[in-house]
Amino acid sequence: MGIADKIATDIAGDWHAALAALAWEVEAGADETILDAPVNRYELAAETPKPVAARVPSPPDPVGTDPAAIARAAAASALSLDALREAIAAFDLCELKKGARNTVFADGNPRARVLILGEAPGAEEDREGRPFVGRAGKLLDRMFAAIGLARTSPDAESAFYITNVMPWRPPGNRDPEAAEIAMMMPFVERHIALVDPQVIVAVGNTPLFALTGSRGILRARGNWSQAFGKPLLPMTHPAYLLRNPAAKREAWADLLSLQQRLRG
Ligand code: URA
Repeated sequence: MGIADKIATDIAGDWHAALAALAWEVEAGADETILDAPVNRYELAAETPKPVAARVPSPPDPVGTDPAAIARAAAASALSLDALREAIAAFDLCELKKGARNTVFADGNPRARVLILGEAPGAEEDREGRPFVGRAGKLLDRMFAAIGLARTSPDAESAFYITNVMPWRPPGNRDPEAAEIAMMMPFVERHIALVDPQVIVAVGNTPLFALTGSRGILRARGNWSQAFGKPLLPMTHPAYLLRNPAAKREAWADLLSLQQRLRG
């Protein structure tokens, strides 16, 4: 098997293995791809060209090649959360997917009154395929438990549901780009519509930007607004709270505000 065939086979199987194989070949000095058998290009030139069938123009495609339009069509055809999970897993137009091990869809009780929207999976979420399972996720669970909400609760009243704007881990945990967010927004909107929560909590700048078009979570936090017709509470991300423990005081005030809203 030649280099190109090997890499093509690896790409079909495992993106990481393909990248490692390519890096190894470059290190070994390979600077071009060759075939297993030589090709006589003079003979190729002498071959008579095959007649070309008359080209039938394809009908106009209403979706076209705009990734967001393709995502919108895929999201709209998902009539259940399971169908949405499959539609996202089958969506190949976001570059982040190529570097991710798993598509991280959601966790928690889909009948919950509270939907928490995070940014994107980190290394542990990517490995496990579930959102907010790392250190920040453990803090988030403790924070919401303090107002009586748990992702594991079977009771809609005391449960939360949790997902992210991006279902794939960005390399090196960088912030998702605006174009990547725009591409995935139809799936986020559909996700919210299918869960139909009473309130949305956006943790961090990425979901705040995705839902409102503006950044500045430290200014926006604690101020209720609206997104997709639902009350929206922006809060600081638990990873920020791990780095800035003094900000937990404000986060606690935001949690009490959420509790109040749910009681009211
Ligand atoms: N941070 C997020 O925003 N989402 C996760 O799933 C994990 C960490």
